Amino acid sequence: MRNAILLVALLALAFTLAACGGSGQDAATPGTPQAAAAAGDATRGQALFSKSLLNGNAGCTTCHSLAPGKALLGPSLAGLARRAGDMVPGQSAEQYIHTAIVDSNAFLARGCNASNPEAQCVANIMPQDWSRKLSEQEINDLVAWLLTLK
Ligand code: HEC
Repeated sequence: MRNAILLVALLALAFTLAACGGSGQDAATPGTPQAAAAAGDATRGQALFSKSLLNGNAGCTTCHSLAPGKALLGPSLAGLARRAGDMVPGQSAEQYIHTAIVDSNAFLARGCNASNPEAQCVANIMPQDWSRKLSEQEINDLVAWLLTLK
């Protein structure tokens, strides 16, 4: 009887180990944008996003609403994760969002003007120095959180 219990316990352990090992193939390669998003912590990203002042700059919520279609100085970020991968050919959702933060003039989004949502936003409104004001970890945290906005 004892041996049977031990056997069941060993089998359970083996299954658990097999399940954990199975995800190894999808692990992100260091240095890739996937790794950047994987390195980010969405909960910390949400906290950073919500600050009215962020490391000396106006915080993200000054200009970005999370209500669909609600334009402040910048576009609403509602549903961003759904469209981010279709914005710039060849850029994944992670890449697009990362670039939108550290080099926002590289691609000007739409949706800053409530009466003309299709109009392109103006350059240089979004602070251009986030890569200096935020650590790489903070940027990854923000990206991880923005990727949850489906
Ligand atoms: C002073 C206003 C302002 C602040 C502060 C600001 N942004 Fe922006 N943001 C903009 C504007 C304007 C645009 C549209 C023009 C462009 O794409 O650069 C934009 C674009 C974006 C986009 C692309 C949106 C889309 O629909 O594709 C993302 C993502 C973004 N901002 C994230 C952030 C995050 C994260 C922060 C905080 C770290 C932040 N922004 C802070 C004004 C701002």
